This record gives sequence, C-alpha cells and structure tokens, in this order.
Amino acid sequence: MIKSTLPEIEEKLAKIKRVKLAQLPTALEKLDRLGQAINMKHLWIKRDDNTGLAFGGNKARKLEFLVADAMEKGSNLLLTVGGVQSNHARMTAAAARAYGLDCCLWLLGKNNPQGLPGNLLLDKILGARVELHPYMDDETLLEAVDDYFDTLKEKGKKPYYIPMGGSTGLGDLGYVMMVLELAEQLYLKGETLDKIILAAGSGGTLAGLTLGCKLFLPGTQVWGISIGIRKDELADKIIRGIRESEHILGISPIVSTGDIHLWDDYIGEKYAVASLAGNEAIIQTARTQGILLDPVYTGKAMAGLIDLRNKGVLSSSDRVCFVHTGGTPALFAYEDSLAPLL
Ligand SMILES: Cc1ncc(COP(=O)(O)O)c(C=O)c1O
Repeated sequence: MIKSTLPEIEEKLAKIKRVKLAQLPTALEKLDRLGQAINMKHLWIKRDDNTGLAFGGNKARKLEFLVADAMEKGSNLLLTVGGVQSNHARMTAAAARAYGLDCCLWLLGKNNPQGLPGNLLLDKILGARVELHPYMDDETLLEAVDDYFDTLKEKGKKPYYIPMGGSTGLGDLGYVMMVLELAEQLYLKGETLDKIILAAGSGGTLAGLTLGCKLFLPGTQVWGISIGIRKDELADKIIRGIRESEHILGISPIVSTGDIHLWDDYIGEKYAVASLAGNEAIIQTARTQGILLDPVYTGKAMAGLIDLRNKGVLSSSDRVCFVHTGGTPALFAYEDSLAPLL
C-alpha cells in the first residue's frame, strides 16, 4: 500500500538534489516506416540517445542524482566500473568534468585493445584515468575496486563510487522521473501506451521505469531485453534496486516480481559481442528511419522487439514505445562485425 499520495511522491522526487546534465525532455517520435515494415501501427521511440551529455544516452538521467550526491558528500573524484566500451563510463567521465571533478574508470575487457576504439577515445579525451583489466567475476571485481578506492583515499582523493551502470536506488530515480516526462508527452499527443521496451544491462533503467509506470502510468508494462545477464538473476537485481528507490521515496513496496518482464533470448553469444540479429536491426532502423542504434544494447533490444512482433507476442495494434538508451559511440568499435553486412 502506498502511504503517500501521487502528488506527494512527485513533490518528494522533485526535492531530491540533482545537478543538471541532461537536455530534457527528450523527443517522443513515431516510427512510421519501421512500424510499417514490421506491421506495427503504433510504434514510438523515446530519444534518450539525445540527452546531450558527451554524445548522450540513458546514464545522464541517473548521473544527475549521483553527481549531486557525490558533491553533497564532499567528493572530488568519481570512480566507476564497466566494460571497455562502457557508455556509462564515458558519460560518468563527462559528468565529472561538467562539475569540476576527476574521474577514474575501471574497465574490463582486453588489456590491450588496438588503438582507442569508440568510447575509449572519448574517455581519454575527457581526461579520465583509465585502468584496463581482464574480465573478473563480480566478487573479485568488488574486492579489487574496494582496494582501489582505498588507494585513492590514501593519495588524498575523496572518491565517490558509482556501481556498474549507475544502477542504484538513487540513480534509478532518474527513470522514475522519466515516466512523468513521458506521461505528459503522451497526454499532449492524446496517446496511450501498452508497453515500453528497452535494453536491460545492469537493470537500473528498467527498475526506474517499472516503478515509475506502477506509480504514474498504470496500464503500461515495461519489457526489458537483457543484453547480458540471464533473466532470473537480473530480475532479482532489479527488484533489489526498486526496493531501494521505494525506500528513498518513503513508500511501501508496490512493485512485485510479477511486474518485471524480461527476455534473455537476444543476448547472442554474450555481453558486448555483437549478434547478427542485432546488427540487422541496426541496419533496418537506420535505413527506415535514419536513426542509429548500437551493437551492444539498443541493436539487440530492437532485434528482440522485431522478433517478438514476428512471433505474435506483440500484436500489430499494440501501442509500444522503444526507449533509445544511446550507446552509438560504440558503433566505431564494431566495424568488423557490421562491415560484412553493408
Ligand atoms: C546504451 C545503453 N543502453 C542500455 C543500457 C542499460 O542500462 P541499465 O544498465 O540501466 O540496464 C546501457 C548501460 O550501460 C547503455 O549504455
């Protein structure tokens, strides 16, 4: 049961400290030609690739809360982790610079990538200190980053740690707020939505949207296409994030596991390895709409949407909004997988 009324929750959200990083609202556009190609009459896209922070993407909304928290706590350095092509890392580096902070990025992948592909170039231009490490399991990663955090403190820095993907109960509030923005846009257009579909990585964006819809857009389901983690594990992580957000907002748990909708059939080989279906979805979206997706997140998510339509899980009359969460700088690190299709 919610103890607060919806206006009270809105007011509470508006009072939580955030800095300005994102250009909002992002556009809500109809995908007419792609919709026609896959036989969907009401297909929309929310352009969070255009949030404007160092080539944009979903993390700007989360970082508005996280950077404010870091500054409130007197930190002067943001430390975060991610894959070698992490968009979250690139945007964290930009957010740090926008507020005069330093940034250290602990990136997992090949120790010696050739040159500075995609996001790595941008991380370096932004002057982030980049630590490249081979893949490690979550526990080892946490321990290693903990040690690194202590080393930074010993060097006189005041680091603020942002977990993978910026997915924390606080950061995810950025996507609870996005639902308010979307609800207003839908109202002004006289539209409604049955489903929101997006890529799910660490799950925070989906967590925020699911809680946001439960509160402010009931009747709209949020469907996540996992790009790495199997759905049971991811659902647990998402529920934990939602509980944290509910706690910050001072409301009793209102989202249950039944509200978490996930597909893990579109990961392909594994996280950060491009899939053929994902690359085909990138090309189809680019050539029908002039919109660029990326090979790690949004291409795979769009491949999922198209396949769910082909299988009839989505109907031709479903009102669906695809959230474009960004990631396009990574296109320049995946030329080898895309070039054979061009
Ligand atoms: C382009 C893009 N889309 C989607 C996601 C997934 O967001 P989340 O980690 O909140 O699930 C990410 C995360 O890094 C991303 O960079």
